[in-house]
Amino acid sequence: MPPAHLHRARWSDVGPLAALEARLFPGDAWSEASWWSELAGRPRREYLVLTVGDEVAGYAGLDDGGDVADVMTVAVAPEHRGRGLGGVLLDALEDEAGARGAEHLMLEVRADNTAALALYTRRGFAEVLRRRGYYRPDGTDALVLRKTLSRERAGDG
Ligand SMILES: CC(C)(COP(=O)(O)OP(=O)(O)OC[C@H]1O[C@@H](n2cnc3c(N)ncnc32)[C@H](O)[C@@H]1OP(=O)(O)O)[C@@H](O)C(=O)NCCC(=O)NCCS
Repeated sequence: MPPAHLHRARWSDVGPLAALEARLFPGDAWSEASWWSELAGRPRREYLVLTVGDEVAGYAGLDDGGDVADVMTVAVAPEHRGRGLGGVLLDALEDEAGARGAEHLMLEVRADNTAALALYTRRGFAEVLRRRGYYRPDGTDALVLRKTLSRERAGDG
């Protein structure tokens, strides 16, 4: 397996991102138009793309809301899961949020998403609230998780 590389999303990533999204979330995927709109949301929004060889293997997105930043999405293609790439993406988002001065990073996740919950709790995210029956049509709860970011800025201490 070739090594994985991370880069900030470019307009040329829109096609591969939409194609991977369609594989991962059939029926509920962001279209190319949605990706164009998300990328146009910079600088508040930032998307990171993980490639293995020529292939887009994953992506992650951040919404910079000031003191509190939100994880918009983290996803890894099924054939690349289970070898730390989700962690690489989440670490990179935390770095991005921290560099922008965020004190907290928040996200929302389905309560039945075992893999994502394992990834988040392992990295210090903790549940702050549960939205009962939030996801339709199945009525799965949504969990809102938060992590307080360490402040290691130039000049501190
Ligand atoms: C969640 C997701 C990004 C994880 O990607 P990944 O590359 O497999 O994650 P990693 O290999 O970095 O694993 C991270 C941790 O989660 C654990 N994990 C991964 N898959 C798991 C599973 N199916 N069940 C339980 N734990 C799992 C790993 O063991 C690892 O824990 P560790 O750090 O203690 O070893 C991936 O499963 C995915 O894309 N899911 C679909 C999209 C999605 O649900 N995104 C989150 C939306 S909120």
